[in-house]
Amino acid sequence: METRPFGSTGERFPILSLGCQRVVDEHNCTAEQAVAILNTALDRGIRYFDTAWVYSHGQSETRVGLVAKHRRQEMWIATKAWDRTREGARRQLEESLARLQTDHVDEWRLHNVWGMDRLEAMTGRAGALEAAVRAREEGLLRFISISGHTDPQVQVEALRRFPFDTALVAVSVLDHFIYSFAEEFLPVAQQKGIGVVGMKVLALRKLAHVADRALRYALALPLTTVIVGCSTLAQLEADLAVAEGFGPMTGPERLEFFRDVLPLVRPENMPWKAVDWASPEEWKPRDEPYGLPKP
Ligand SMILES: NC(=O)c1ccc[n+]([C@@H]2O[C@H](COP(=O)([O-])OP(=O)(O)OC[C@H]3O[C@@H](n4cnc5c(N)ncnc54)[C@H](OP(=O)(O)O)[C@@H]3O)[C@@H](O)[C@H]2O)c1
Repeated sequence: METRPFGSTGERFPILSLGCQRVVDEHNCTAEQAVAILNTALDRGIRYFDTAWVYSHGQSETRVGLVAKHRRQEMWIATKAWDRTREGARRQLEESLARLQTDHVDEWRLHNVWGMDRLEAMTGRAGALEAAVRAREEGLLRFISISGHTDPQVQVEALRRFPFDTALVAVSVLDHFIYSFAEEFLPVAQQKGIGVVGMKVLALRKLAHVADRALRYALALPLTTVIVGCSTLAQLEADLAVAEGFGPMTGPERLEFFRDVLPLVRPENMPWKAVDWASPEEWKPRDEPYGLPKP
């Protein structure tokens, strides 16, 4: 599989990586199946694994930990802090490390920074970013990151405020047409040498019927790798087949793809573009004090 440099981290990664949000019971994936998916990914050359403190009450991290316990040296582990505050985020990091069965993570992100108010809280005084900087000094994490799938200008502003090492952003072909990270964020990240990981490549299944072209579209963008969320080995195999044979679409092919998917660019298909959206897996009762509405 093609590999690309990851910003200024000094690492290179294959263009396909694994999103681990779905390797959980609520997506009908057992612990045994999850371990098989992660081990197969590693055996086939994937090195980058994304999870988060908030996913399925920690089950996603726990399952990544079942494999990290044995194969940590082969894995790049990225996880995320949901809490906006320094103390809350620190507690989450400590819980993440325990679940992941490791003494450090490679990358830790401010999770789902959907608006300027959340950015302000997380990067302001006593915010989660202070916990990240401290933890990096202590060797509990290596690189500081930010994620978002709503408004690219929030992540552009984040890069103005702090020298984030990396970012995880939404790059599905549907995202191309509204609040476009591809158009508004990637050029800024490229110019600053930030390592970028893409997500929402299959638009939460809305592009499952054109998975092949959806992946090829995203892989042709100026980013390092994309995390696709797989809950079965068959999905992983299908995504690997596209990534291993990857060649960008021609200009006319890309235009034809745009024409085919344009009818899908509608609010009901892209809930992550709304500032008041968080997926059920991400929502937790303890978020209520921070103003996050129930899904
Ligand atoms: N704010 C954030 O930082 C944030 C937010 C969301 C997700 N993430 C991360 O991003 C990863 C990817 O999630 P996403 O939200 O971007 O979703 P996505 O990758 O656009 O869609 C994932 C879904 O597509 C389906 N799928 C995967 N491969 C397929 C194939 N070859 N053919 C047909 N369907 C296929 C699976 O559906 P089924 O499982 O339903 O079968 C899978 O759950 C997550 O695992 C998580 O690690 C981060």
